[in-house]
Amino acid sequence: MQRLTIDLKERSYPILIGSGLLADPATFTSLTGRRAAIVSNETIAPLYLERLETTLEKVGAGTTALVLPDGEAYKNWETLNRIYDHLLAERCDRGTTVIALGGGVIGDLAGFAAATYQRGVPFVQVPTTLLAQVDSSVGGKTGINHPRGKNMIGAFWQPRLVVADTDTLNTLPDRELSAGLAEVIKYGLIRDLPFLDWLDAHMERLMARDGEALAFAIERSCANKAQVVAGDELETAKEGGRALLNLGHTFGHAIEAGAGYGVWLHGEAVAAGTLMALELSRRLGWLSAAEVERVIALFQRARLPVRGPALGVDRYLDLMGHDKKVRDGRLRLVLLRKLGEAVTYADAPPAEIRAAIEACCG
Ligand code: NAD
Ligand code: GLY
Repeated sequence: MQRLTIDLKERSYPILIGSGLLADPATFTSLTGRRAAIVSNETIAPLYLERLETTLEKVGAGTTALVLPDGEAYKNWETLNRIYDHLLAERCDRGTTVIALGGGVIGDLAGFAAATYQRGVPFVQVPTTLLAQVDSSVGGKTGINHPRGKNMIGAFWQPRLVVADTDTLNTLPDRELSAGLAEVIKYGLIRDLPFLDWLDAHMERLMARDGEALAFAIERSCANKAQVVAGDELETAKEGGRALLNLGHTFGHAIEAGAGYGVWLHGEAVAAGTLMALELSRRLGWLSAAEVERVIALFQRARLPVRGPALGVDRYLDLMGHDKKVRDGRLRLVLLRKLGEAVTYADAPPAEIRAAIEACCG
């Protein structure tokens, strides 16, 4: 078992990574004597809910569970209200810990419910997708989608504990594993060139779900994310900072919204969006064609899409205009100055942005 700490002063918390954590009472001793409201979905609950409930029972925590429908399409107000309804019906009070058991959708929804129920209750993340284990469960971003934009309603609310049991990845569909790898590759691209080299050398092991390789990739990703979040928790840095974690996301959010939420997986959209950002970086003279080709090949080995859908450049730009990365009406993009070094940049010429999108879609 690996244990990392995300250093946020009095709100610091551990990230536990390893095999068998869900069934191990030692994982959850901080919940002894407490009440826990587990939020999961109809796909994950049959696989892991009983295991979690049994372990919580062993440490003397009382539980109630809510099983929601599955899908990005349910990351909305209606589903959020179902969580509030359940917490109220079960007479949960401010001492109740909300536990998210699932992927990023459940984590974002349950986290936002925890941030707002009775003005905030304790929260624990038990991520069960690769994407959630390397990204969404760490750092405290919670929220829901609005029809006009992804993650437009939300709050920063840090969990007290993150439990990434790598065994849960054994049941993950192949397409979801690939989607998680897009976020793993992101850390190499934005700030960790040795990790990018490692991914180049070990992608086939990751695709074969080699436990040791997956555990290393998760730990290295979380360590990178923990450092970035500790330096800019609320994403307020004028340059760089936490926004760098959004490489490919402004383009990617346009893909997700433009294609209709749920058609493209978040990680798939991030992969295609990342290549738009890299193409733009190449057009600015910061990357070579060979470096962009290297990254395209890595995404292909992870069975990720390397081109976005043919929405039309104007539609992309319209959707990107709703992104949270727009500041004072200017599109602030995350680009690569070189492989392993990302920057936020608001001065890309509009014609180059258009050309980069055009070159990478359809
Ligand atoms: P997801 O939560 O939809 O899960 C993907 C699918 O896998 C779902 O059908 C789910 O039921 C299923 N699943 C989950 N765990 C499983 C398991 N162990 N075995 C079998 N099936 C399993 O998708 P995701 O990729 O985990 O998360 C995407 C969401 O995360 C998006 O809404 C995105 O906006 C959000 N996100 C948030 C942050 C953040 O910082 N808060 C960061 C990145 C992404
Ligand atoms: N996924 C981006 C962030 O947590 O900031």
